[in-house]
Amino acid sequence: MAEPVIEVQELKRHFLSRTGALSTKRRVIEALKGVSFQVLKGELFGYLGPNGAGKTTTVKILTTLLAPSSGTAKVLGLDVLSQARAIRRRINFVFGGERGLYFRLSGWDNLRYFADLYFVPPAVQKKRIPHLLELVGLSGRAQDKVETYSRGMCQRLHIARGLINDPEVLFLDEPTIGLDPVAAFELRQVIKGIVKEGKTVFLTTHYMKEAEELCDRIAIINDGQIVALDTPSNLKQYARLVPVIEFTVEGMSERHLAKIRAIPEVQAATLENVGMSQVLKVQSSRGSELIQPLMALFPELRFEGVKVREPTLEDAYIQLVGGKA
Ligand SMILES: Nc1ncnc2c1ncn2[C@@H]1O[C@H](COP(=O)(O)OP(=O)(O)OP(=O)(O)O)[C@@H](O)[C@H]1O
Ligand SMILES: [Mg+2]
Repeated sequence: MAEPVIEVQELKRHFLSRTGALSTKRRVIEALKGVSFQVLKGELFGYLGPNGAGKTTTVKILTTLLAPSSGTAKVLGLDVLSQARAIRRRINFVFGGERGLYFRLSGWDNLRYFADLYFVPPAVQKKRIPHLLELVGLSGRAQDKVETYSRGMCQRLHIARGLINDPEVLFLDEPTIGLDPVAAFELRQVIKGIVKEGKTVFLTTHYMKEAEELCDRIAIINDGQIVALDTPSNLKQYARLVPVIEFTVEGMSERHLAKIRAIPEVQAATLENVGMSQVLKVQSSRGSELIQPLMALFPELRFEGVKVREPTLEDAYIQLVGGKA
């Protein structure tokens, strides 16, 4: 069995924030409430959760940029607090939407600059830089100035930058954020290539589909706690237990939705506008049995269609991160 390269135990982190500009009152934000997990060597580990779930806080602790409030975190067997310097040499990270490239320099010269910062010897640079440019699909544009690159190309160059010290673990915090579907697709192919080279990748994302396509295992984090951790196919199995009822409806409001969410047998409910009408999705282990009582609850609404279907991983995610909230 592969060895663990990340070991996190009962990790907690809180922040103190002032409630207003002039206020002396302080509020404690518990960003991580006791998180535990392991990532194995060579794994592509997904860390999935909504805004404010605690993803970046976890990445910052693991990359030694932020100290934990309590609990332990080890990377490559080294403690994030007492052995931070040793960890930094052997890892790297890329945050989505990051700046910090030199726009007047070419892609190649940017990588040379970052290689110098990591004291990569010139003979190693000579091989590594073209290899990384190839890996991220920028070989053909290597000599062009970065100011001529698209956003997707800049993000791929960032990833090459993140690999310049040949890290054993690469942390990617929402790498596809703000990219169009094609650029995001290309970036996902790059991530697959990195894992093929034997690196361990810790990837945070909002997108269930992205996690499903890429990851060996996925941890779902919500409100500072891990609510599920498994392979995509096992998470799907779990989702099967709770069917989805989809209603096409007109005139539904947040008030109606709140009433549905208050039903004990309802695990999650969401409302979307699709064209002129609305789609109400209700997840309940009671499945089709719930259709009649639900429609009877709102005689004032017009229900135009209903179907019961198997849940997708996306539905499981919505359910786990509180489609009831
Ligand atoms: N420096 C800080 N000071 C105060 N609160 C903070 C700080 N950093 C993070 N938080 C809070 O901690 C919680 C977790 O934030 P974090 O950035 O880890 O979430 P996230 O999962 O990365 O979210 P997103 O998807 O929006 O990037 C949030 O409530 C956030 O407001
Ligand atoms: Mg974040």
